Amino acid sequence: MKLLLTTLLICGMSSAYAAGDAAAGKNKAAVCIACHGPNGVSIAPTYPNLAGQKAEYIAAQLKAYKSGERKGASAAIMAPMAAGLSDQDMLDLAAFFSEMDAAK
Ligand code: HEC
Repeated sequence: MKLLLTTLLICGMSSAYAAGDAAAGKNKAAVCIACHGPNGVSIAPTYPNLAGQKAEYIAAQLKAYKSGERKGASAAIMAPMAAGLSDQDMLDLAAFFSEMDAAK
C-alpha cells in the first residue's frame, strides 16, 4: 500500500511537471490557427478560443479527442486534428496556446 501511494505520488508529480515547449508548439500549430486563430481567438462563433486556456486542460482535451473519449457537439471536427499528435505535441501546443493573451 505504501509502495502504491509512493508510486501514485511520483506519477502525479511527474505529470504536473511534464512541460510543454511553447516555441515548439508554435511550429506545430499552423493547422490549428486556421480555426482557433493566430492569437488563440477563434475565427467562428462555433469554435472555442484557446488563448489563455489552462495548459493541462488543453492537453487533456486533445488526449480525449484522440482516444474518442470526448464526443458530441463538434468533437468530430477535432478528432482527426488530434489523431496525429503525440503526447509531447499535445503538451507543446497546450503551452503555446495557454501563454497567449486573449485580450490581444
Ligand atoms: C477545422 C477547424 C479546427 C481545426 C483545424 C482545429 N480545431 Fe480545435 N476545435 C474546433 C472545434 C469546432 C472545437 C469544438 C469541438 C467540440 O465541440 O468538442 C475545437 C475544440 C478544441 C479544443 C477544446 C477546447 C475546449 O474549450 O474544450 C482544443 C484544446 C483544441 N480544439 C485544440 C486544437 C489544436 C491544438 C488544433 C491543431 C492541432 C486544433 N484544435 C485544430 C475546430 C478546429
